[in-house]
Amino acid sequence: MTQYDRSHRPSICGGDQPDAPFPVYLSGEVKRGFQRGSRELGCPTANLDPEDQSPEAATALENLGVYYGYARVDGADSGVYPMVMSVGWNPFYKNTHKTIEIHIMHAYSADFYGSQMRAIVLGYIRPELDYVSTEALIADIKTDIQVAQNSLARPAYSAYATNAFFT
Ligand SMILES: Cc1cc2nc3c(=O)[nH]c(=O)nc-3n(C[C@H](O)[C@H](O)[C@H](O)COP(=O)(O)O)c2cc1C
Repeated sequence: MTQYDRSHRPSICGGDQPDAPFPVYLSGEVKRGFQRGSRELGCPTANLDPEDQSPEAATALENLGVYYGYARVDGADSGVYPMVMSVGWNPFYKNTHKTIEIHIMHAYSADFYGSQMRAIVLGYIRPELDYVSTEALIADIKTDIQVAQNSLARPAYSAYATNAFFT
């Protein structure tokens, strides 16, 4: 376990303006994860391949953990929505592959694997933790979503929802 205190979490993260290295721009094809996200956690994620990202983005996301920002998936339901993103190592590949998993706060009507996704990352929420129970992880993801919404409600952040990167 880290020094991070799960019981005293701030309700908002980052300064009044996105702090360096943010904003960080990500894009690529949506990859299939292990599908535990939707079934066990009630939190479907769209994964991006870290190898597809720019060197600047790779460096900016060296800190493992949870981030927030906006995302858009090309297709029928192509709005820009708030997101929370988990960057971590994938135990399935013996921790040799980093994963970028994005949970978009929108109820999509269909699967979108293979579609193009773009995301702008605007802040960092917390480090990746090693959970003893699924319930504890679910509780923290719910808090992550709340923190992301509060943080994105500030004008310097919500302005990115209409950024030219998404059009
Ligand atoms: C907002 C968010 C926060 C997460 N935080 C953690 C974490 O702190 N520790 C961890 O081991 N996994 C964390 N995860 C990763 C989940 O365990 C992962 O999404 C889940 O295993 C589903 O993966 P799958 O879609 O490949 O099955 C987080 C995921 C999300 C979306």
